[in-house]
Amino acid sequence: MPAILDITVSGRRVGGGVHLVVGAFVGDREASGALDARARKAVAHLLARGRFGGDEHERRDGELGPGTALTLFGLGRPSDLTSRKLRQFIERAVDAASGAGAARLAIAVPTHELAGGEAGGLRAARDAALATYRFDAYRAKKKRPALRGVALIAPPGGSAPAFRRGVEAGLAVAAGAVWARDLANTPPNVATPAWMAARAREGARRWRARIQVLGPPELRRRGMGGILAVGSGSQHPPRLVRIELGRGPRTVALVGKGVTFDTGGISIKPSSQMDEMKWDKCGAAAVLGILETLSRLDLPFKVRAYLPLAENMPDGAAYRPGDIVTLANGKTVEILNTDAEGRMILADALAWASSERPDALLEYSTLTGSCVVALGHTGAGLFSPDDELAGELLAAADETGERLWRLPLWEEFLDEMRGAHADLKNSGGRWGGASTAAAFLSQFVSGTARWAHLDIAGPAYVGESKEHRGATGYGVALTVAWLRRLASAARR
Ligand code: BES
Ligand code: MN
Ligand code: ZN
Repeated sequence: MPAILDITVSGRRVGGGVHLVVGAFVGDREASGALDARARKAVAHLLARGRFGGDEHERRDGELGPGTALTLFGLGRPSDLTSRKLRQFIERAVDAASGAGAARLAIAVPTHELAGGEAGGLRAARDAALATYRFDAYRAKKKRPALRGVALIAPPGGSAPAFRRGVEAGLAVAAGAVWARDLANTPPNVATPAWMAARAREGARRWRARIQVLGPPELRRRGMGGILAVGSGSQHPPRLVRIELGRGPRTVALVGKGVTFDTGGISIKPSSQMDEMKWDKCGAAAVLGILETLSRLDLPFKVRAYLPLAENMPDGAAYRPGDIVTLANGKTVEILNTDAEGRMILADALAWASSERPDALLEYSTLTGSCVVALGHTGAGLFSPDDELAGELLAAADETGERLWRLPLWEEFLDEMRGAHADLKNSGGRWGGASTAAAFLSQFVSGTARWAHLDIAGPAYVGESKEHRGATGYGVALTVAWLRRLASAARR
Protein backbone atom coordinates (compact mmCIF):
# COMPACT_ATOMS: atom_id res chain seq x y z
CA MET A 1 0.00 0.00 0.00
CA PRO A 2 1.61 3.29 -1.04
CA ALA A 3 2.27 5.59 1.91
CA ILE A 4 2.83 9.26 1.37
CA LEU A 5 3.73 12.23 3.47
CA ASP A 6 1.10 13.85 5.68
CA ILE A 7 -0.09 16.84 3.65
CA THR A 8 -2.73 19.23 4.91
CA VAL A 9 -4.22 22.61 4.07
CA SER A 10 -3.69 25.12 6.83
CA GLY A 11 -4.71 28.63 7.73
CA ARG A 12 -2.35 31.56 7.51
CA ARG A 13 -1.02 31.22 11.05
CA VAL A 14 2.21 29.28 11.30
CA GLY A 15 2.96 27.59 14.63
CA GLY A 16 6.31 27.22 16.34
CA GLY A 17 8.86 24.62 15.25
CA VAL A 18 7.64 24.74 11.67
CA HIS A 19 9.90 25.62 8.76
CA LEU A 20 8.05 28.26 6.77
CA VAL A 21 8.80 28.71 3.08
CA VAL A 22 7.45 31.64 1.11
CA GLY A 23 8.01 33.00 -2.37
CA ALA A 24 8.26 36.53 -3.72
CA PHE A 25 7.95 37.70 -7.30
CA VAL A 26 10.27 40.28 -8.82
CA GLY A 27 9.45 43.65 -7.28
CA ASP A 28 7.32 42.24 -4.43
CA ARG A 29 7.62 44.11 -1.12
CA GLU A 30 6.00 41.26 0.78
CA ALA A 31 5.59 37.51 0.53
CA SER A 32 3.36 36.10 -2.17
CA GLY A 33 0.61 34.03 -0.58
CA ALA A 34 -1.53 34.27 2.53
CA LEU A 35 0.23 34.90 5.85
CA ASP A 36 -0.64 36.33 9.21
CA ALA A 37 0.68 39.73 10.30
CA ARG A 38 3.65 38.34 12.23
CA ALA A 39 4.91 36.27 9.27
CA ARG A 40 4.28 39.12 6.83
CA LYS A 41 6.43 41.36 8.97
CA ALA A 42 9.25 38.83 9.19
CA VAL A 43 9.21 38.35 5.42
CA ALA A 44 9.14 42.10 4.74
CA HIS A 45 12.15 42.45 7.01
CA LEU A 46 14.01 39.70 5.17
CA LEU A 47 13.12 41.23 1.80
CA ALA A 48 14.34 44.67 2.75
CA ARG A 49 17.45 43.54 4.57
CA GLY A 50 18.84 41.25 1.91
CA ARG A 51 18.24 43.39 -1.19
CA PHE A 52 16.11 40.58 -2.49
CA GLY A 53 15.24 40.94 -6.17
CA GLY A 54 12.80 38.05 -6.52
CA ASP A 55 14.71 36.38 -9.34
CA GLU A 56 14.33 32.66 -9.81
CA HIS A 57 16.98 30.77 -7.82
CA GLU A 58 17.34 33.62 -5.31
CA ARG A 59 17.12 32.47 -1.70
CA ARG A 60 17.28 34.07 1.73
CA ASP A 61 17.12 32.37 5.10
CA GLY A 62 15.88 33.98 8.26
CA GLU A 63 13.69 33.34 11.28
CA LEU A 64 10.05 33.76 12.04
CA GLY A 65 10.73 33.39 15.74
CA PRO A 66 13.00 31.34 17.96
CA GLY A 67 13.29 27.83 16.53
CA THR A 68 11.09 28.67 13.56
CA ALA A 69 13.03 28.94 10.32
CA LEU A 70 11.90 31.05 7.42
CA THR A 71 13.14 30.62 3.86
CA LEU A 72 12.34 32.97 1.03
CA PHE A 73 12.61 31.95 -2.62
CA GLY A 74 12.45 34.13 -5.72
CA LEU A 75 9.65 33.29 -8.15
CA GLY A 76 10.71 35.45 -11.11
CA ARG A 77 8.12 37.54 -12.92
CA PRO A 78 4.45 36.58 -12.44
CA SER A 79 3.95 36.54 -16.23
CA ASP A 80 6.77 33.98 -16.58
CA LEU A 81 5.46 31.57 -13.95
CA THR A 82 4.69 28.06 -15.21
CA SER A 83 3.45 24.92 -13.49
CA ARG A 84 6.99 23.61 -13.86
CA LYS A 85 8.40 26.58 -11.95
CA LEU A 86 5.76 26.14 -9.28
CA ARG A 87 6.85 22.51 -8.95
CA GLN A 88 10.46 23.61 -8.60
CA PHE A 89 9.41 26.08 -5.88
CA ILE A 90 7.69 23.26 -3.97
CA GLU A 91 10.71 20.99 -4.47
CA ARG A 92 13.07 23.68 -3.23
CA ALA A 93 10.83 24.19 -0.20
CA VAL A 94 10.95 20.49 0.63
CA ASP A 95 14.73 20.42 0.14
CA ALA A 96 15.19 23.48 2.36
CA ALA A 97 13.16 21.95 5.19
CA SER A 98 14.77 18.52 4.79
CA GLY A 99 18.22 20.09 4.64
CA ALA A 100 17.51 21.97 7.88
CA GLY A 101 16.26 18.77 9.53
CA ALA A 102 12.77 20.20 10.10
CA ALA A 103 9.94 17.82 10.97
CA ARG A 104 7.20 20.09 9.68
CA LEU A 105 7.12 22.41 6.71
CA ALA A 106 4.59 25.09 5.86
CA ILE A 107 4.49 26.43 2.33
CA ALA A 108 2.72 29.66 1.49
CA VAL A 109 1.39 28.80 -1.96
CA PRO A 110 2.02 31.87 -4.16
CA THR A 111 -0.74 34.22 -5.20
CA HIS A 112 -1.10 33.42 -8.88
CA GLU A 113 -3.84 32.04 -11.11
CA LEU A 114 -1.77 28.89 -11.78
CA ALA A 115 -1.36 28.18 -8.07
CA GLY A 116 -4.90 28.69 -6.78
CA GLY A 117 -8.18 26.88 -7.17
CA GLU A 118 -8.66 23.17 -7.64
CA ALA A 119 -5.88 22.82 -10.23
CA GLY A 120 -3.43 24.69 -8.00
CA GLY A 121 -4.28 22.60 -4.95
CA LEU A 122 -3.89 19.42 -6.96
CA ARG A 123 -0.45 20.36 -8.22
CA ALA A 124 0.85 21.67 -4.90
CA ALA A 125 -0.17 18.54 -3.00
CA ARG A 126 1.04 16.18 -5.70
CA ASP A 127 4.36 17.96 -6.11
CA ALA A 128 4.99 18.17 -2.36
CA ALA A 129 4.20 14.49 -1.86
CA LEU A 130 6.41 13.40 -4.77
CA ALA A 131 9.28 15.72 -3.78
CA THR A 132 9.87 13.63 -0.66
CA TYR A 133 9.89 10.27 -2.47
CA ARG A 134 12.78 7.95 -1.68
CA PHE A 135 13.15 4.29 -2.61
CA ASP A 136 14.92 2.68 0.32
CA ALA A 137 13.03 -0.57 0.73
CA TYR A 138 16.28 -2.42 0.05
CA ARG A 139 18.64 -0.55 2.38
CA ALA A 140 19.81 -2.25 5.54
CA LYS A 141 19.63 1.06 7.38
CA LYS A 142 16.65 3.12 6.31
CA LYS A 143 17.34 6.81 6.31
CA ARG A 144 14.29 7.89 8.21
CA PRO A 145 13.41 11.30 6.78
CA ALA A 146 13.03 14.02 9.39
CA LEU A 147 10.25 15.71 7.43
CA ARG A 148 6.90 14.26 8.48
CA GLY A 149 4.33 16.69 7.21
CA VAL A 150 3.69 19.61 4.92
CA ALA A 151 1.03 22.24 5.53
CA LEU A 152 -0.06 24.08 2.40
CA ILE A 153 -1.27 27.59 3.07
CA ALA A 154 -3.91 28.25 0.42
CA PRO A 155 -3.32 31.43 -1.57
CA PRO A 156 -5.70 34.35 -0.99
CA GLY A 157 -8.50 34.99 -3.45
CA GLY A 158 -10.04 32.09 -5.32
CA SER A 159 -12.09 29.49 -3.56
CA ALA A 160 -10.61 27.73 -0.55
CA PRO A 161 -12.95 24.72 -0.86
CA ALA A 162 -11.80 24.27 -4.48
CA PHE A 163 -8.16 24.38 -3.35
CA ARG A 164 -8.94 21.77 -0.69
CA ARG A 165 -10.68 19.52 -3.22
CA GLY A 166 -7.62 19.88 -5.43
CA VAL A 167 -5.34 18.84 -2.57
CA GLU A 168 -7.41 15.68 -2.03
CA ALA A 169 -7.13 14.79 -5.72
CA GLY A 170 -3.42 15.65 -5.71
CA LEU A 171 -2.82 13.23 -2.85
CA ALA A 172 -4.65 10.51 -4.80
CA VAL A 173 -2.45 11.18 -7.83
CA ALA A 174 0.67 11.11 -5.66
CA ALA A 175 -0.35 7.81 -4.09
CA GLY A 176 -0.69 6.26 -7.55
CA ALA A 177 2.59 7.71 -8.79
CA VAL A 178 4.42 6.58 -5.63
CA TRP A 179 3.13 3.04 -6.04
CA ALA A 180 4.10 3.07 -9.73
CA ARG A 181 7.61 4.21 -8.72
CA ASP A 182 7.94 1.57 -6.01
CA LEU A 183 6.82 -1.22 -8.35
CA ALA A 184 9.09 -0.10 -11.18
CA ASN A 185 12.09 0.42 -8.88
CA THR A 186 11.79 -3.06 -7.39
CA PRO A 187 14.83 -5.00 -8.65
CA PRO A 188 14.36 -7.66 -11.32
CA ASN A 189 15.47 -10.53 -9.08
CA VAL A 190 12.40 -9.77 -6.97
CA ALA A 191 9.98 -8.26 -9.48
CA THR A 192 9.33 -11.28 -11.70
CA PRO A 193 6.14 -11.58 -13.76
CA ALA A 194 4.53 -13.63 -10.95
CA TRP A 195 5.58 -11.00 -8.38
CA MET A 196 4.04 -8.19 -10.43
CA ALA A 197 0.85 -10.24 -10.81
CA ALA A 198 0.78 -10.77 -7.03
CA ARG A 199 1.06 -7.01 -6.46
CA ALA A 200 -1.79 -6.50 -8.96
CA ARG A 201 -3.86 -9.00 -6.95
CA GLU A 202 -3.21 -7.04 -3.76
CA GLY A 203 -4.29 -3.90 -5.54
CA ALA A 204 -7.45 -5.53 -6.86
CA ARG A 205 -8.34 -6.75 -3.37
CA ARG A 206 -7.90 -3.25 -1.93
CA TRP A 207 -10.00 -1.71 -4.72
CA ARG A 208 -12.58 -4.51 -4.71
CA ALA A 209 -11.88 -4.94 -8.43
CA ARG A 210 -12.21 -8.03 -10.57
CA ILE A 211 -8.89 -9.59 -11.59
CA GLN A 212 -7.79 -12.44 -13.82
CA VAL A 213 -4.20 -13.66 -14.05
CA LEU A 214 -3.35 -15.85 -17.03
CA GLY A 215 -0.31 -18.15 -16.97
CA PRO A 216 1.26 -20.14 -19.83
CA PRO A 217 -1.50 -22.81 -20.24
CA GLU A 218 -4.21 -20.17 -20.56
CA LEU A 219 -1.97 -18.01 -22.80
CA ARG A 220 -1.52 -21.03 -25.08
CA ARG A 221 -5.28 -21.64 -25.20
CA ARG A 222 -5.78 -18.03 -26.24
CA GLY A 223 -3.08 -18.18 -28.91
CA MET A 224 -1.03 -15.45 -27.27
CA GLY A 225 2.20 -16.44 -29.01
CA GLY A 226 3.92 -13.10 -28.45
CA ILE A 227 3.86 -13.18 -24.65
CA LEU A 228 4.81 -16.88 -24.70
CA ALA A 229 7.71 -16.36 -27.14
CA VAL A 230 9.21 -13.47 -25.18
CA GLY A 231 8.82 -15.32 -21.88
CA SER A 232 10.15 -18.64 -23.12
CA GLY A 233 13.82 -17.97 -22.30
CA SER A 234 13.13 -17.08 -18.69
CA GLN A 235 13.01 -19.17 -15.51
CA HIS A 236 10.09 -16.94 -14.53
CA PRO A 237 7.14 -17.74 -16.77
CA PRO A 238 5.04 -14.91 -18.22
CA ARG A 239 1.67 -13.68 -17.02
CA LEU A 240 -1.12 -11.57 -18.44
CA VAL A 241 -3.18 -9.66 -15.91
CA ARG A 242 -6.62 -8.21 -16.60
CA ILE A 243 -8.33 -5.97 -14.03
CA GLU A 244 -11.74 -4.35 -14.16
CA LEU A 245 -12.37 -1.35 -11.91
CA GLY A 246 -15.19 1.13 -11.44
CA ARG A 247 -18.40 1.70 -13.31
CA GLY A 248 -19.81 4.23 -15.71
CA PRO A 249 -21.35 4.65 -19.13
CA ARG A 250 -17.94 4.65 -20.83
CA THR A 251 -15.17 2.05 -20.72
CA VAL A 252 -11.51 2.92 -20.96
CA ALA A 253 -8.89 0.24 -21.62
CA LEU A 254 -5.33 0.73 -20.34
CA VAL A 255 -2.48 -1.49 -21.51
CA GLY A 256 1.03 -1.36 -19.97
CA LYS A 257 4.27 -3.03 -21.03
CA GLY A 258 5.62 -5.15 -18.21
CA VAL A 259 8.99 -6.54 -19.27
CA THR A 260 10.45 -7.23 -15.84
CA PHE A 261 13.94 -7.32 -17.33
CA ASP A 262 15.00 -6.80 -20.93
CA THR A 263 18.39 -8.33 -21.76
CA GLY A 264 17.47 -8.18 -25.43
CA GLY A 265 17.30 -11.99 -25.48
CA ILE A 266 19.37 -13.79 -28.12
CA SER A 267 19.84 -10.38 -29.81
CA ILE A 268 21.50 -9.44 -26.54
CA LYS A 269 22.06 -5.83 -25.54
CA PRO A 270 25.50 -4.38 -24.76
CA SER A 271 26.29 -4.70 -21.05
CA SER A 272 26.76 -0.99 -20.43
CA GLN A 273 23.70 0.36 -18.57
CA MET A 274 21.82 -2.89 -19.07
CA ASP A 275 20.73 -2.63 -15.43
CA GLU A 276 18.38 0.16 -16.54
CA MET A 277 16.25 -2.45 -18.28
CA LYS A 278 14.72 -3.29 -14.92
CA TRP A 279 12.64 -0.21 -15.71
CA ASP A 280 11.20 -1.88 -18.80
CA LYS A 281 8.11 -2.59 -16.67
CA CYS A 282 7.33 1.10 -16.18
CA GLY A 283 4.28 0.94 -18.46
CA ALA A 284 2.65 -1.79 -16.38
CA ALA A 285 3.63 0.01 -13.16
CA ALA A 286 2.07 3.25 -14.45
CA VAL A 287 -1.20 1.48 -15.25
CA LEU A 288 -1.33 0.00 -11.72
CA GLY A 289 -0.59 3.46 -10.34
CA ILE A 290 -3.44 4.93 -12.40
CA LEU A 291 -5.82 2.31 -10.96
CA GLU A 292 -4.65 3.13 -7.41
CA THR A 293 -5.43 6.81 -8.01
CA LEU A 294 -8.79 6.10 -9.64
CA SER A 295 -9.79 3.89 -6.72
CA ARG A 296 -9.47 7.00 -4.52
CA LEU A 297 -11.43 9.31 -6.83
CA ASP A 298 -15.01 9.04 -7.90
CA LEU A 299 -14.95 9.15 -11.69
CA PRO A 300 -17.72 7.78 -13.92
CA PHE A 301 -15.71 5.27 -15.93
CA LYS A 302 -15.30 1.56 -16.14
CA VAL A 303 -11.57 0.90 -16.53
CA ARG A 304 -10.06 -2.32 -17.84
CA ALA A 305 -6.34 -2.79 -17.41
CA TYR A 306 -4.25 -5.35 -19.29
CA LEU A 307 -0.69 -6.03 -18.18
CA PRO A 308 1.46 -8.38 -20.25
CA LEU A 309 4.35 -9.44 -17.99
CA ALA A 310 7.45 -11.28 -19.22
CA GLU A 311 11.19 -11.42 -18.76
CA ASN A 312 13.30 -11.29 -21.94
CA MET A 313 16.30 -13.61 -21.50
CA PRO A 314 18.77 -15.48 -23.76
CA ASP A 315 18.53 -19.23 -23.18
CA GLY A 316 18.29 -22.58 -24.91
CA ALA A 317 14.53 -22.24 -24.78
CA ALA A 318 14.49 -18.58 -25.81
CA TYR A 319 12.79 -17.39 -28.99
CA ARG A 320 15.24 -16.55 -31.75
CA PRO A 321 15.70 -14.38 -34.81
CA GLY A 322 14.11 -16.21 -37.75
CA ASP A 323 11.24 -17.63 -35.69
CA ILE A 324 7.72 -17.02 -36.97
CA VAL A 325 5.24 -16.46 -34.18
CA THR A 326 1.43 -16.36 -34.35
CA LEU A 327 -0.20 -13.70 -32.21
CA ALA A 328 -3.62 -13.54 -30.55
CA ASN A 329 -5.43 -12.00 -33.52
CA GLY A 330 -4.03 -14.63 -35.92
CA LYS A 331 -1.39 -12.43 -37.52
CA THR A 332 2.07 -13.92 -37.96
CA VAL A 333 5.33 -12.16 -37.19
CA GLU A 334 8.83 -12.99 -38.31
CA ILE A 335 11.31 -12.26 -35.56
CA LEU A 336 14.29 -10.27 -36.83
CA ASN A 337 15.43 -9.03 -33.45
CA THR A 338 14.50 -10.55 -30.10
CA ASP A 339 15.18 -7.17 -28.51
CA ALA A 340 12.02 -5.85 -30.17
CA GLU A 341 10.06 -7.81 -27.54
CA GLY A 342 7.79 -5.08 -26.18
CA ARG A 343 5.64 -4.95 -29.30
CA MET A 344 5.32 -8.75 -29.24
CA ILE A 345 3.77 -8.87 -25.77
CA LEU A 346 1.75 -5.70 -26.34
CA ALA A 347 0.30 -7.08 -29.57
CA ASP A 348 -1.41 -9.94 -27.71
CA ALA A 349 -2.67 -7.60 -25.00
CA LEU A 350 -3.91 -4.99 -27.49
CA ALA A 351 -5.74 -7.65 -29.49
CA TRP A 352 -7.58 -8.77 -26.37
CA ALA A 353 -8.23 -5.25 -25.09
CA SER A 354 -9.63 -3.99 -28.38
CA SER A 355 -11.75 -7.14 -28.91
CA GLU A 356 -13.67 -6.09 -25.78
CA ARG A 357 -14.72 -2.85 -27.51
CA PRO A 358 -13.66 -0.10 -25.11
CA ASP A 359 -14.63 3.51 -25.87
CA ALA A 360 -10.96 4.46 -25.72
CA LEU A 361 -7.72 2.51 -25.45
CA LEU A 362 -4.44 3.88 -24.11
CA GLU A 363 -1.20 1.95 -24.04
CA TYR A 364 2.01 2.85 -22.20
CA SER A 365 5.39 1.35 -22.97
CA THR A 366 9.12 1.93 -22.68
CA LEU A 367 9.13 0.80 -26.27
CA THR A 368 12.01 2.27 -28.24
CA GLY A 369 15.42 3.83 -27.83
CA SER A 370 14.53 5.83 -30.96
CA CYS A 371 11.89 7.75 -29.05
CA VAL A 372 14.54 8.73 -26.50
CA VAL A 373 16.82 9.84 -29.35
CA ALA A 374 13.98 12.00 -30.70
CA LEU A 375 12.61 13.55 -27.51
CA GLY A 376 15.25 12.98 -24.84
CA HIS A 377 14.26 12.13 -21.31
CA THR A 378 11.85 15.01 -20.99
CA GLY A 379 8.77 13.84 -22.79
CA ALA A 380 6.95 10.85 -24.19
CA GLY A 381 5.96 10.24 -27.81
CA LEU A 382 2.25 10.12 -28.59
CA PHE A 383 0.94 8.06 -31.49
CA SER A 384 -2.73 8.01 -32.39
CA PRO A 385 -4.82 7.92 -35.56
CA ASP A 386 -7.49 9.94 -33.75
CA ASP A 387 -6.91 13.72 -33.74
CA GLU A 388 -9.54 14.35 -31.09
CA LEU A 389 -8.08 11.84 -28.64
CA ALA A 390 -4.57 13.12 -29.36
CA GLY A 391 -5.72 16.68 -28.65
CA GLU A 392 -7.34 15.63 -25.37
CA LEU A 393 -4.20 13.84 -24.23
CA LEU A 394 -1.90 16.71 -25.20
CA ALA A 395 -4.12 19.13 -23.26
CA ALA A 396 -4.16 16.86 -20.20
CA ALA A 397 -0.39 16.48 -20.36
CA ASP A 398 -0.02 20.25 -20.57
CA GLU A 399 -2.09 20.66 -17.45
CA THR A 400 0.07 18.26 -15.45
CA GLY A 401 3.53 19.20 -16.68
CA GLU A 402 4.12 15.66 -17.96
CA ARG A 403 5.40 16.46 -21.42
CA LEU A 404 3.95 14.69 -24.42
CA TRP A 405 4.63 15.24 -28.12
CA ARG A 406 2.77 13.80 -31.07
CA LEU A 407 4.76 11.76 -33.59
CA PRO A 408 3.54 10.37 -36.92
CA LEU A 409 1.87 7.06 -37.73
CA TRP A 410 2.17 7.38 -41.53
CA GLU A 411 1.40 4.32 -43.63
CA GLU A 412 4.97 4.34 -44.98
CA PHE A 413 6.06 3.14 -41.53
CA LEU A 414 3.71 0.20 -41.77
CA ASP A 415 5.07 -0.70 -45.22
CA GLU A 416 8.44 -1.11 -43.55
CA MET A 417 7.05 -3.66 -41.12
CA ARG A 418 5.67 -6.11 -43.71
CA GLY A 419 7.38 -9.50 -43.44
CA ALA A 420 9.03 -11.46 -46.22
CA HIS A 421 7.66 -14.79 -44.98
CA ALA A 422 5.06 -13.66 -42.44
CA ASP A 423 2.41 -10.94 -42.22
CA LEU A 424 4.75 -8.68 -40.30
CA LYS A 425 8.32 -8.54 -39.07
CA ASN A 426 9.09 -7.33 -35.59
CA SER A 427 11.81 -4.87 -36.49
CA GLY A 428 12.10 -2.31 -39.27
CA GLY A 429 15.11 -0.50 -40.60
CA ARG A 430 17.40 1.79 -38.72
CA TRP A 431 15.37 4.99 -39.04
CA GLY A 432 12.12 6.16 -37.50
CA GLY A 433 12.15 3.32 -34.98
CA ALA A 434 9.54 4.88 -32.68
CA SER A 435 7.09 5.25 -35.58
CA THR A 436 7.71 1.82 -37.12
CA ALA A 437 7.10 0.27 -33.68
CA ALA A 438 3.84 2.23 -33.36
CA ALA A 439 2.81 1.15 -36.87
CA PHE A 440 3.39 -2.47 -35.84
CA LEU A 441 1.15 -2.02 -32.78
CA SER A 442 -1.60 -0.48 -34.94
CA GLN A 443 -2.05 -3.91 -36.55
CA PHE A 444 -3.35 -5.36 -33.30
CA VAL A 445 -5.98 -2.78 -32.48
CA SER A 446 -9.31 -3.50 -34.13
CA GLY A 447 -12.72 -1.92 -34.04
CA THR A 448 -11.70 1.51 -32.77
CA ALA A 449 -9.66 4.48 -33.94
CA ARG A 450 -9.84 5.99 -30.47
CA TRP A 451 -6.58 4.48 -29.32
CA ALA A 452 -3.20 5.92 -28.46
CA HIS A 453 0.26 4.54 -27.85
CA LEU A 454 2.52 6.47 -25.49
CA ASP A 455 6.21 5.64 -25.87
CA ILE A 456 7.46 6.52 -22.39
CA ALA A 457 11.01 5.15 -22.78
CA GLY A 458 12.48 8.63 -22.15
CA PRO A 459 10.54 10.05 -19.19
CA ALA A 460 9.67 6.80 -17.35
CA TYR A 461 12.87 6.80 -15.32
CA VAL A 462 15.99 8.79 -14.57
CA GLY A 463 19.03 6.61 -15.18
CA GLU A 464 21.90 9.04 -15.04
CA SER A 465 21.73 10.68 -11.65
CA LYS A 466 22.80 9.42 -8.27
CA GLU A 467 20.32 11.43 -6.26
CA HIS A 468 17.26 11.21 -8.46
CA ARG A 469 17.92 7.88 -10.15
CA GLY A 470 14.72 5.91 -10.39
CA ALA A 471 11.28 5.55 -11.88
CA THR A 472 9.19 8.71 -12.19
CA GLY A 473 5.63 7.37 -12.32
CA TYR A 474 5.21 9.17 -15.66
CA GLY A 475 1.72 8.74 -17.10
CA VAL A 476 -0.27 8.59 -13.87
CA ALA A 477 -0.88 12.34 -13.59
CA LEU A 478 -1.65 12.89 -17.27
CA THR A 479 -4.06 9.97 -17.55
CA VAL A 480 -5.95 10.96 -14.42
CA ALA A 481 -6.11 14.56 -15.66
CA TRP A 482 -7.46 13.30 -18.99
CA LEU A 483 -10.22 11.30 -17.25
CA ARG A 484 -11.10 14.16 -14.91
CA ARG A 485 -11.40 16.49 -17.89
CA LEU A 486 -13.60 13.99 -19.77
CA ALA A 487 -15.82 13.61 -16.71
CA SER A 488 -16.26 17.34 -16.23
CA ALA A 489 -16.91 17.86 -19.96
CA ALA A 490 -19.66 15.23 -19.73
CA ARG A 491 -21.20 17.03 -16.74
CA ARG A 492 -21.36 20.31 -18.64
N1 BES B 1 13.06 -1.66 -23.78
C1 BES B 1 13.68 -1.33 -25.01
C2 BES B 1 13.55 0.16 -25.34
C3 BES B 1 14.30 1.12 -24.45
C4 BES B 1 15.55 1.54 -24.82
C5 BES B 1 13.72 1.64 -23.33
C6 BES B 1 16.22 2.45 -24.03
C7 BES B 1 14.39 2.55 -22.54
C8 BES B 1 15.65 2.97 -22.90
C9 BES B 1 13.03 -2.10 -26.13
O1 BES B 1 12.59 -3.37 -25.83
C10 BES B 1 14.07 -2.25 -27.21
O2 BES B 1 15.03 -2.92 -26.96
N2 BES B 1 13.83 -1.63 -28.37
C11 BES B 1 14.72 -1.71 -29.45
C12 BES B 1 13.93 -2.04 -30.69
C13 BES B 1 14.77 -2.41 -31.88
C14 BES B 1 15.48 -3.73 -31.61
C15 BES B 1 13.89 -2.53 -33.09
C16 BES B 1 15.39 -0.35 -29.59
O3 BES B 1 14.75 0.67 -29.36
O4 BES B 1 16.59 -0.33 -29.88
MN1 MN C 1 14.13 -4.82 -26.02
ZN1 ZN D 1 12.04 -3.67 -23.87
